[in-house]
Amino acid sequence: MSNKPLQGIKIIDFTHVQAGPACTQLLAWFGADVIKVERPGSGDVTRSQLRDIPDADALYFTMLNSNKRSLTLDTKQPEGKAVLEKMIKEYDVMVENFGPGALDRMGFTWERIQELNPKMILASVKGFSDGHEYEDLKVYENVAQCAGGAASTTGWWKGEQAGPMISAAALGDTNTGMHLAIGILTAYIGRQHTGKGQKVAVAMQDAVLNLCRVKMRDQLRMDTVGYLEEYPQYPHEMEAFADKVVPRGGNAGGGGQPGWILKCKGWETDPNAYIYFTIQGQAWAPICDALNKPEWKTDPLYMTPKARQPHIMDIFATIEDFIKDKTKFEAVNIFRKHDIPCAPVFSMKELLNDKSLRASGSIVEVPHKVRGSYWTVGSPIKFSDLKPVVTASPLLGEHTDEVLAELGYSKEQVAAMHSSKAI
Ligand SMILES: CC(C)(COP(=O)(O)OP(=O)(O)OC[C@H]1O[C@@H](n2cnc3c(N)ncnc32)[C@H](O)[C@@H]1OP(=O)(O)O)[C@@H](O)C(=O)NCCC(=O)NCCS
Repeated sequence: MSNKPLQGIKIIDFTHVQAGPACTQLLAWFGADVIKVERPGSGDVTRSQLRDIPDADALYFTMLNSNKRSLTLDTKQPEGKAVLEKMIKEYDVMVENFGPGALDRMGFTWERIQELNPKMILASVKGFSDGHEYEDLKVYENVAQCAGGAASTTGWWKGEQAGPMISAAALGDTNTGMHLAIGILTAYIGRQHTGKGQKVAVAMQDAVLNLCRVKMRDQLRMDTVGYLEEYPQYPHEMEAFADKVVPRGGNAGGGGQPGWILKCKGWETDPNAYIYFTIQGQAWAPICDALNKPEWKTDPLYMTPKARQPHIMDIFATIEDFIKDKTKFEAVNIFRKHDIPCAPVFSMKELLNDKSLRASGSIVEVPHKVRGSYWTVGSPIKFSDLKPVVTASPLLGEHTDEVLAELGYSKEQVAAMHSSKAI
């Protein structure tokens, strides 16, 4: 088998910022020929956003656009439109994440695309789904986290920090892009059976909601039971459940196993000297052994999850006391011997330099013509017969002439397009 299973799939990457580019980058890693179509002169806005090196493409861009080729094309000019039409006729997939209606305004409605190529798969990211009452809204990451329910359930329920909270994880952007990649591959396989393309759309609100499934579960439980026994508010702050809306749960575990973030040695000065500790039901005896608390194994106040829940925060405080003279790594090394689900809280700096992540290809260094090289996040999906090689993101328009030549344009035609600034 080829080492690039998606080789031969030709993708017009009409995306920008993060949600769309994350999707097409994934497909490019696995072998698809991804042509990033960008506005001449400026390109994807992330090329110049939050630059760390003057005049070099920003990391925001390089980390989301590896393994692609770049074609500059002004798709509002007739010549540019004609090139895009030719590409639509010859390519398999077009991915876009412009604001609502932008593609239609450019003249590329779904109907027109089907006329040009009935086999074309059009894949779109929008903030809200078609027909939604907010379908006209432009949406960025944090807007989606609020619209999809994540923000209302994340954060603290009391104290100065109370209020909805945003996650640093790109639940709205990259997550939506990953959903879209699954949609594209599904439509592509479908096309092999039907011979027809189709439109695939993922709304950022829906993609966030899909990851907030357990919070929707909790709302449904609230509707029937009236409270949530695994939340830190239970049973001492039952008023938190009075309005029958899922409350924010701080760092509580989201499943059936209570968990919390615990301080380790050095937390006073190191912002990440913590571990996450989970009290897995069946691991109670090993937890007691690890903490040198054998008496808890037979104490009725500690023996069952139900008995522990009313004083679960006191139990976490006892564990915290046990690890106060241990670093997060020492603490995990003790607990791992007892099969307890836990991990250090890793900082970005630690992850970037992590030997295991570098060895597995989850963190990779990529040579780049202008930057010298850059570190980035590699494929989180591992295969037995495919080791994705991450190559540099393209410079703006780096492959314009090459792609146009592949489309059959002569040198003279390309030169004319350069002079009219269509490319
Ligand atoms: C992300 C977002 C808010 C950015 O908004 P924006 O910067 O105002 O950009 P838009 O996508 O709305 O508009 C792009 C414009 O550039 C034009 N454009 C883009 N590429 C072009 C090109 N190569 N040539 C000519 N025009 C181009 C579009 O036609 C559009 O013009 P119009 O609004 O006059 O019709 C918006 O694109 C959006 O809501 N996208 C969908 C949701 C999404 O993906 N969000 C997450 C991003 S990480």
